[in-house]
Amino acid sequence: MFSAKRIESFEYIRVEEMHTFVSRLFGLSGKPVVLVKQLTHLTLTIMIRMVLGNKYFGVSGDDRLGSDSKMSVQELQEMIDEFYGYVKRMKALKKKLDQFHDHVLDEHKRRKEELDKDFVAQGFVDLLLQLADDPDPDVKLTSDAVRGFTQDLISGGTDSSARTVEWAISELIKEPQLIRQATEELDKVVGKERWVEETDIPRLPFLEAIMKETMRIHPVGVLLAPRLAMQDCNVAGYDIRKGTRVFVNIWSMGRDPYLWERPEEFHPERFVGSNINVKGTDFELLPFGAGRRMCPGYSLGLKMIQLSLANLLHGFNWKLPDSTKAEDLSMEEAFGMITPRKFPLVAVMEPRLPHHLYKL
Ligand code: HEM
Repeated sequence: MFSAKRIESFEYIRVEEMHTFVSRLFGLSGKPVVLVKQLTHLTLTIMIRMVLGNKYFGVSGDDRLGSDSKMSVQELQEMIDEFYGYVKRMKALKKKLDQFHDHVLDEHKRRKEELDKDFVAQGFVDLLLQLADDPDPDVKLTSDAVRGFTQDLISGGTDSSARTVEWAISELIKEPQLIRQATEELDKVVGKERWVEETDIPRLPFLEAIMKETMRIHPVGVLLAPRLAMQDCNVAGYDIRKGTRVFVNIWSMGRDPYLWERPEEFHPERFVGSNINVKGTDFELLPFGAGRRMCPGYSLGLKMIQLSLANLLHGFNWKLPDSTKAEDLSMEEAFGMITPRKFPLVAVMEPRLPHHLYKL
């Protein structure tokens, strides 16, 4: 499902939604904007189109989901926010989400039946349904599992990417010289007559360094999914008995003075020219985890983060509202399944590219 080819086949969705996004921000130029609301709208619409198929959210700006307007993007976003809230509310929420997913699955099944031989899978849901129909599967997918996977994909990819970009902009806005360095690189590689494309990313090492530094100091998952020791073992001198539940705290690893120089400082240069990557092989930096339970969406997550961060820096000058001083900007975290800012970043943007580029 997450093959490089499949992720690439959805590039046009990311391009279209990115364009709608910067165009919407252009309309908000000069006004204080709660950045994460805009970012979550971007990542959620990308995920909905990739997971459910284009039909559920057109580029027309229509905010209703599904052919009979079952739910709006806004409503789905509120449910995802609740999902990351408290377990107490989970049961009522499950009912609401199940209704939505049943509706989605019924529509997809109907479309498959109607199109018969002309049917082509559009999004991840179609692929999951194909796997569920497989008469001879390695692992049988129940309809509950299909609903669960659909929800995992939409919520797993939405907040994680949006919150990471919000943290990146929050750190950068405190250090304007880093924004200057990043925009110099963008102007050199991309120029001022177009938006950043996914193919530009490998030629933007400073942008990559910003992304890694953000994920080192603000990993969205503080603790990886719990592990269970399958046998007695010894890790770094500690005996761990078979059956022990192990929590890996990547937040504290990212700030460990034995691993990082001046760990509390946001200093992207530490990654320029370094071989450390975020793909689960360099154990000091594990924002997507490692091993069999590593995040399956990591390459998609990286693309969404880097492309949106690059275009936010390329397309806009950034400042804090007049009422906030950089040194007073709170960097406190809130507790939860992901680790968002305690106080959402409010920023003011001004366009820095020719205005015709922001038109849809
Ligand atoms: C900034 C982007 C993202 C970050 C930082 C992130 C981080 C993580 C982390 C730390 C884990 C636990 C890994 C472990 O315990 O070893 C995880 C699991 C997971 N992620 Fe992501 N993720 C991101 C984007 C995505 C995207 C785009 C998707 C889906 C399209 C996704 C779907 C999932 C799923 C389904 C799991 C559970 C895997 C399992 O338990 O087997 N994530 N993610």
